[in-house]
Parts: sequence; structure tokens; C-alpha cells
Amino acid sequence: MEKLFEKLNEQLDNGGFIKAVLSGAFDKTVKKTVYEPVSVSKETLYRRDTFDTDGKDIRKNLRRDEFIEDVTKLCTGYRQMNIICVSFSAEVLRSKKGAVHISYGKGAGAPAAPSDNDRKKNYILDPTEKYDFLVMLGIEDKDGRIKDKKQSKWRQINRFLQIVGDVTPKLPDDGAVIWDLCCGKCYLSFAVYYYYTAILHKNVTLYCVDRKRDVIEECASYAGALGFNGMKFICGDVFKCLPERDPDMVLSLHACDVATDIVLSEAVKRNAKVILSSPCCQHELAGQLDCPDLQFITKEPILKQKLCAIITDALRCKLLHASGYAVTTLEFIDPDETPKNLLIRAEKTAIPEKIRQKERREYDELCERLNVDPMMRKLLS
Ligand SMILES: C[S@@+](CC[C@H](N)C(=O)[O-])C[C@H]1O[C@@H](n2cnc3c(N)ncnc32)[C@H](O)[C@@H]1O
Repeated sequence: MEKLFEKLNEQLDNGGFIKAVLSGAFDKTVKKTVYEPVSVSKETLYRRDTFDTDGKDIRKNLRRDEFIEDVTKLCTGYRQMNIICVSFSAEVLRSKKGAVHISYGKGAGAPAAPSDNDRKKNYILDPTEKYDFLVMLGIEDKDGRIKDKKQSKWRQINRFLQIVGDVTPKLPDDGAVIWDLCCGKCYLSFAVYYYYTAILHKNVTLYCVDRKRDVIEECASYAGALGFNGMKFICGDVFKCLPERDPDMVLSLHACDVATDIVLSEAVKRNAKVILSSPCCQHELAGQLDCPDLQFITKEPILKQKLCAIITDALRCKLLHASGYAVTTLEFIDPDETPKNLLIRAEKTAIPEKIRQKERREYDELCERLNVDPMMRKLLS
């Protein structure tokens, strides 16, 4: 084993380590443990994912010395360890009594260009760093460690920041106005504000709107304590209580049912350059959809519910397109973590009037055929 860890250390020195997988835990509480390198800021960390037999995934990022110590200790509890590096691979088989057999194989070769998956790992926030706003929001503990139950929220925030980063060139270089509508506990708003002001060193004004008074008051007090002076808080219904200043970008994560229609319509009316909206609880059309051609689906209540959610979002995208936006939909988090992971990304674009009119005609025809009259259509009529 000593020789193996020497070889592994060499690979760590030159960036050739790709993956280590421990499987066949003797105590059967864990399905497998996987280590992979991740780039965080300029440093390489080693992410350890432990997949419990009860379906939980516990993630931790380790520095290099912690990683070697961790894998050395942990591997003694597993029947098998596979190490894959650029220049060699190794399989370690261990008996319950501790007898070890190691076989070496070919390496995986030089790594390919980073895939989208790798990109996802290049988090904007550093998982080993303490962020006061994340401590305040209860995502990190007081020592800056991401709480086990908040790992998924942390990944969600980071993924969202990457998407925000992608659309940033669309916004004014300085002084952008951002709305986060139906902001709830403002996880996203604090992260976006931090990203622009502390990481990109840009001025932004970020309005957070939600109808829950206690939540808004609490978030306002956090922003005050953090000195996030460009964050403004409005308690009220997004239908009526919106900021006077027009937005450059409108964000909205999981605004339930027709609240998303209000968000999208207001963003269009107020000429937002970018809209990032993750809809949820699309119930509206379930009470309207009436289309004989689709009865083979709608006769099953669960399928009807799923179909209505997809139709709701597809119609929203079409109407956004007809309103002058280039629209893409993406899954912004792992579907295993939450089914509410669809994100509508809309960017104001010079779409020729002819195409917009055609889109609008098609949209209206679809609504007639499906016998639906969505809220967004009413709001933008
Ligand atoms: C599921 S939570 C999402 C919160 C937050 N965006 C997040 O993802 O963590 C939905 C939020 O929308 C707010 N909300 C729903 N309808 C609203 C409306 N018409 N006006 C203002 N807030 C609304 C609720 O109060 C709630 O805080």
C-alpha cells in the first residue's frame, strides 16, 4: 500500500489524479465513497462523496493532506478500492482479515477538455471559505463549514451564480438594477449581491420582494448587519408592490403557480434585459386544459399534472419569445435533488417583428386548441 500511495502522491503533484472509488464497505452502512479533484478558485481540493445505503449523499471537500489521510484510513473499511490516474490505475482488494491484493493497470491518459459536468464543479463560492452571509442564513456553521442539511442549497446557490455570471455581459457594467421577486429567505439575493459587489466589484441595487413580512424584516436586518447597503426590501404582493426603478435583470426562484406569470409579465412590461425564473407548482392549467387529442394522457391524474406543468412553461417560453426574448430552458440543479429544477432564461434580443407576430399567433392558436387562458396571457394582453 505504501508504494501505491507513493504513486498516488506523484500523480497529485502533477495533477494526474482522476478518481478513487471505495466500494463494498465491510459494515454495509455505505454503498460507496468517491473522491474526485475539484478546482476551487486557484486551488485543487478533493471532493469526497459518501453514498449511504439509506440514499443520503454526504459531501465534503478536503485539502490534499486531509485527502491522503482520509483515503488511507477509510480504505481499510472497504473490500475494494479503485484508483484512476492519468498514468496508471490500481485495484485494491482487501479481505475482512486485512489481507491486501493490488493489481495495476493502464492509466486513463491525458484528461479531455473540461465537460459541462466539470464546469459545474468550478464553484464560484469556495466551499472551504467562510462567508458571513452564508453563516447568517444558516447554510454554513459559525466556522464556515457547510451544514450537512444545506449542501444541496449551497450547490443550488453556486449553480445559480454560474448562470448569473453567464448573463452578466447583458447588464450595464456598473449600477445594474436587479429584482428578486418572491424572494423568500433571500438565499439567492444575498449570494447574487455578494457575487456582484465582493467578487466582481460592481455596484448593484438589488430589490427583494415578498409578501411575508417577518421574512422580509429578518432579511433586511441581515443585510443591515452585513453592510449590504445596496439591498432593498419590499414587503408586499408582486402584483402590486414593485420597485419604481426598472430592472435590468429579474430573478425569481420557485415562485409558486401564477406568481411566476406575474413575475414574467412584470419583467416584460418593465423591459428587463434578462429574466431568470424557476417556476414551480404549475397548477393553473390543470383546471382548464381540455383537448380531446390529449385525453389519452389527461385521463391519468398524475400524467395530467405533469403535462400541465410542461404546457404551462412551454407557453410561458413562447410568449416570452413573442415579447422579444431569446429563451432557453435548463435544469439548473441535479434532478435527483429536487424535481423543481427547471430554469427559464430569457434575454432581451432584437427579434424581428415578423417573427414575434408569428410566435404570438401560434401562441394564441395553441391556447385555443388546448382551451386554456393562462394568467401570463391575460397579464400581457
Ligand atoms: C417557495 S418560496 C421560494 C422562496 C425563494 N425564492 C427561494 O427559492 O428560496 C415562494 C415564495 O414566494 C412568495 N410569494 C408567493 N406569491 C407571492 C406574491 N404574489 N407576492 C409576493 N410574494 C409571493 C411566498 O411568500 C414565498 O416566500
